Amino acid sequence: MKFYGKTVTYIALITILILTSCEKDKGPIIIRPEIPYDSTVYMISYSGYIQPLFNENCVGCHNAAHPFLNLHASVSYSELVYNGENAPYVDNIDPENSLLIQRLRGVEWPIMPPNPPHVSEADIDSIKLWMYQGYFDN
Ligand code: HEC
Repeated sequence: MKFYGKTVTYIALITILILTSCEKDKGPIIIRPEIPYDSTVYMISYSGYIQPLFNENCVGCHNAAHPFLNLHASVSYSELVYNGENAPYVDNIDPENSLLIQRLRGVEWPIMPPNPPHVSEADIDSIKLWMYQGYFDN
């Protein structure tokens, strides 16, 4: 009787082992960057929001004569993403680390635009949100 009890325990343990080892493979663990905004609310429009910021603050210097980066409406998107001297200036995983944001904050010297007024925190946040959302040419 004692022996039989042990056998039952072993069988139970082995069954549990087999069952747990067969647990469904859940695939790789994907670590997503933390998005500090509710990005489901609305999409930031490049032409409607970002370009006007460039028109107001940047194109006086960042025109066709600028050696690195032309921010005029007809070319700014392709310059930022593909063609500018140090493109891409954008980063959808870590926008804070993008060349554009680093210049707007002055983390990468000198701050852009060089003279005040600088781009506001709220506008910098919106540019970052645009990058998080995949920096569409929308
Ligand atoms: C008064 C002129 C002036 C204004 C206004 C200005 N910039 Fe610049 N910017 C420059 C000059 C000159 C350089 C190149 C020298 C340097 O890297 O500091 C530059 C460099 C940059 C670079 C780095 C380019 C590279 O490939 O290294 C970025 C990005 C940039 N500017 C973004 C901006 C943005 C965005 C604005 C507007 C919000 C702006 N700048 C406004 C003059 C200006």
